[in-house]
Amino acid sequence: MTGIILDCDPGVDDAIALALAVASPEIRLRAVTAVAGNRPVETTSRNARRLLDLLGAGDIPVYAGAARSLAYSEPRCSTSHGEDGLGGIDIGSGNSIGSDHATDIIAAALAGPQGAELTLVAVGPLTNLALVEIKYPGLLARAAAILVMGGAAFTAGNITPAAEFNFWSDPLAAHVVLSSGADLRIFGLDVTSRVAMTPDFLGRLARGGGNSARKLHDMLKVYGRSDPLLHDTCPVAFLVEPGMFTSERGYMQIDWSPGLGEGRSHFWPEMMETRPKPSNVSVVTHVDNGALLTLLEERLVRLP
Ligand code: BDR
Ligand code: CA
Repeated sequence: MTGIILDCDPGVDDAIALALAVASPEIRLRAVTAVAGNRPVETTSRNARRLLDLLGAGDIPVYAGAARSLAYSEPRCSTSHGEDGLGGIDIGSGNSIGSDHATDIIAAALAGPQGAELTLVAVGPLTNLALVEIKYPGLLARAAAILVMGGAAFTAGNITPAAEFNFWSDPLAAHVVLSSGADLRIFGLDVTSRVAMTPDFLGRLARGGGNSARKLHDMLKVYGRSDPLLHDTCPVAFLVEPGMFTSERGYMQIDWSPGLGEGRSHFWPEMMETRPKPSNVSVVTHVDNGALLTLLEERLVRLP
């Protein structure tokens, strides 16, 4: 069983990732930490709490983290998940957030006796992880692995022509994490934008599952498309069935200077002769979409 902390900014696709983690016996979800991203951190932390309560996982603690990116005084949020970040679905209020700061929780878990067995799954801007590394240089490298949804190694961006949302939202934080020496696996748009639900899948989710599956189905409508994308689900699914994914080693660097290219991730495959530094990441290049949907359906319909 893999022990994880899920760092997220729910967010509808974050909600599906959270649900898959809760429904998977291969994963022990030790805590959920929230960061400003899709919405301000007050909203994303409350959403994480609301979701865990909905999913029958009220015992898993939630901690709020960074309220803004390293470089900008206001968080760079998105409107694509609705004003409340979860498509306006009624799932209770979610008031009980842990009093510790998310970065203290992550740092303590990594420094603790089981720190080397902990996997961090980061599916929002990387501010919380970067703050841990800034405060305790070298600590991120203690994690068994860090799985990141962010960037676009080979394809265009989704929030600007150059950049994927999580990396654009806090490019300096992405730079800090990419430079940390940790065991990093990057799930960028190259693969996550190919992982789409189908109308048939959505129908089965609504009809075949319990209350949680129905609420998740309803919140997906906020995307306004019949084949919603499952970005944040990919790293969680990797922990359950890594064989569904193909990866490639190489060096990734992010453009963090303000301007048209801000947030763009550049990737040099291991064999590219101009690679400026040793490889620092495994970039996921392929996923078996059918197998992922089968896994997801099987797990989500188990939820209460
Ligand atoms: C990422 O951006 C967010 O809107 C999603 O939750 C996901 O983490 C995709 O670019
Ligand atoms: Ca997210």
